Amino acid sequence: MSRRLAASVGFLAASSFTGACAGDRELGAYLSNECVACHQISGHVTGGVPRITGWPEENFIAVMNSYKDKHRDNPIMQTIAGRLADDEIAALAAYFGAVTSQSSAK
Ligand code: HEC
Repeated sequence: MSRRLAASVGFLAASSFTGACAGDRELGAYLSNECVACHQISGHVTGGVPRITGWPEENFIAVMNSYKDKHRDNPIMQTIAGRLADDEIAALAAYFGAVTSQSSAK
């Protein structure tokens, strides 16, 4: 993990979050290891796997829940989302939402 990312995590933790769904970014970074096997952290789209970085957190959470509830029909993502608890989804939303193509590591 880069020092710059660690610093920005600290900065955001210090600023006040509103709303109950503020995710834990460090947990998100940890959980993201699984996701980036398919989703490129650089935001590039490869082999039809969509980009998931830089999304507003609410949208990310809504999409993950729609896989979890099987409203969205993709067996891979249904399985993955089905294993995640709400706070883990919130953590992933916070982490991926903060990743922009310029700040991403290779
Ligand atoms: C085995 C490969 C794979 C893994 C691992 C994976 N995904 Fe996906 N993901 C996909 C594919 C393929 C799609 C497109 C599915 C569809 O068309 O609905 C997708 C779609 C998504 C979408 C919706 C994107 C959009 O533009 O609608 C989100 C959000 C997402 N994944 C998040 C995650 C997260 C978070 C993780 C880790 C916890 C993860 N994915 C792990 C393959 C994967």
